[in-house]
Amino acid sequence: MFRLEWTRTWLAVILGVALGWEAAAGSDVSGSRPNILLMLADDLGIGDVGCYGNRTIRTPNIDQLATDGVRLTQHLAAASMCTPSRAAFLTGRYPVRSGMVSSSGYRVLQWAAVSGGLPTNETTFAKILQEQGYATGLIGKWHLGLNCERAEDHCHHPLLHGFDHFFGMPLSMMGDCAPGGLSEKSARLQRRLESAAHVAALVALTLAAGAATHLLPRGAWAPAAGATLVAALLAAASHFLGALIVHADCFLMRGHDITQQPMRLALTMPLMLQDAVAFLRRHKEGPFLLVMSFLHVHTPLVTTGKFLGRSRHGLYGDNVEEMDWMVGQILDTLDAEGLTRSTLVYFASDHGGALEARMGSEQHGGWNGIYRGSKGMGGWEGGIRVPGIVRWPGVLPAGRVVHEPTSLMDVFPTVVELAGGQVPQDRVIDGRTLLPLLLGTASHSDHEFLLHYCESSLHAARWHQRQTGALWKVHYATPALRADSDACYGRLVCPCSGDGVLRHDPPLLFDLSRDPSEAHALTPDTEPLFHQVTERVARAVERHRRSLRPVPLQLDAWGNTWRPWLQPCCGRFPFCACDREGGGQ
Ligand SMILES: *[C@@H]1O[C@H](CO)[C@@H](O)[C@H](O)[C@H]1NC(C)=O
Ligand SMILES: *[C@@H]1O[C@H](CO)[C@@H](O)[C@H](O)[C@H]1NC(C)=O
Repeated sequence: MFRLEWTRTWLAVILGVALGWEAAAGSDVSGSRPNILLMLADDLGIGDVGCYGNRTIRTPNIDQLATDGVRLTQHLAAASMCTPSRAAFLTGRYPVRSGMVSSSGYRVLQWAAVSGGLPTNETTFAKILQEQGYATGLIGKWHLGLNCERAEDHCHHPLLHGFDHFFGMPLSMMGDCAPGGLSEKSARLQRRLESAAHVAALVALTLAAGAATHLLPRGAWAPAAGATLVAALLAAASHFLGALIVHADCFLMRGHDITQQPMRLALTMPLMLQDAVAFLRRHKEGPFLLVMSFLHVHTPLVTTGKFLGRSRHGLYGDNVEEMDWMVGQILDTLDAEGLTRSTLVYFASDHGGALEARMGSEQHGGWNGIYRGSKGMGGWEGGIRVPGIVRWPGVLPAGRVVHEPTSLMDVFPTVVELAGGQVPQDRVIDGRTLLPLLLGTASHSDHEFLLHYCESSLHAARWHQRQTGALWKVHYATPALRADSDACYGRLVCPCSGDGVLRHDPPLLFDLSRDPSEAHALTPDTEPLFHQVTERVARAVERHRRSLRPVPLQLDAWGNTWRPWLQPCCGRFPFCACDREGGGQ
């Protein structure tokens, strides 16, 4: 009996020392320069992933990452749309600070040939890691701009923002890239072009009739001919719009060169995977930073034969399962090259799933689980709460789950610290290092408040009250939704301001710790702390506002309008076409 007790005590002591030692060893990882592999999905919902509660979709590789690493349950994107969220991810700053937002109704950069983009004076983590001697690569989607003044100045190009290697799409995968896909751009534009063509035709007819009947001077024939030409060009543009968009936006680049325009969609996935594997093999001596920015699971859901019809959730589910397989292939490469223990791996989505992406009756967008709202909605949880998993075997505890608020912006200071660099001191960085939470040396997140913007307009804010554990969320504005669904009126993506938005004064208040689905707004009658909480959050918002500086907004109308002289073109404009990628694998 005594011996047993004795043995137990010693066992406990030894175990305690061993664990304590491991924790202590683990807690001083800053400057330890691991390899860093960041994987970002496009439009994947938190409810689409097995380890976040989906029982019917198969994501074994992502789930295994969570089993072997740390799973974040309150991981938040800084915006519910691609361009601003990605800008915040790369810079560690709210996108209003870099100007990667609009005030004019655009939600993302619209074309490859626009002048807006991530400003050259913004510092990405890739830039800092590059200076720290990391080999840095970006594969896949960029969507942060390309040119400023000429078609090849590449002022916003990934290679000018700290990446030594780039292979992928400078813009984004879109429904418009595939014939018959769910169109994000062409349907709306087509209507505008057609109306413009009608106006021009009417002007031409009026002028011609005037000249013919001598009501107008003879000189009116020339403008009549001009208007006819404009009408014909607009009508042609409208007719060929689909093909024009495919050439203008759906192309691949390697470094500074366009290598496939338009893309051959069926080959893109194998090409990206091949490039990722080659990058890892090439840089296995390390240290490296690879950002794998998936084109999955954005519409048009390009999926290879092996995965078609495999899932229980239609084409969307097939596409998710294919991406999971790609994750597995990349992790297998780390294993094969002996890199698993020296590499920190991160997986997240740029924002929530797009509930409104539907083709007929089939859902072509993601699922946000119990969370309300969708991609494009400023503050509702479903647009911003995303999967977030970090694995680093031997350093981070396996199977840990962190419920504290964390942000995609936190990746910036985290990887900079690991690489032994310093975050810029001349600007506000909104991200906070994740290391204490990941290692378990801190139990609370540094984010007492987080702000939820819809472009340049603040829609909501959250307050994580440490002492009580309450998680308050205050909404100042919410998108006006149709009564019968969680969608906005007649649009694929909700607006951030104007008629399509409901303003709330007093604001809507929710306690996410009791009501994560934001189903029951609290009132001063139901919540005695109502005024105290909303006033406290208002003060935090005010303090944040005072830290903002006016900057040019990159997504506003002029910077976000197609210009022929900025059109990236392989070949002679306007005949932009080439294929230097060959047949893939
Ligand atoms: C799993 O994901 C699919 C695809 O988005 C979705 O339709 C389904 O509702 C999800 N299931 C659960 C239990 O969340
Ligand atoms: C970058 O330049 C713009 C002017 O173009 C300026 O408003 C902004 O403050 C600068 N940003 C930084 C981080 O220096």
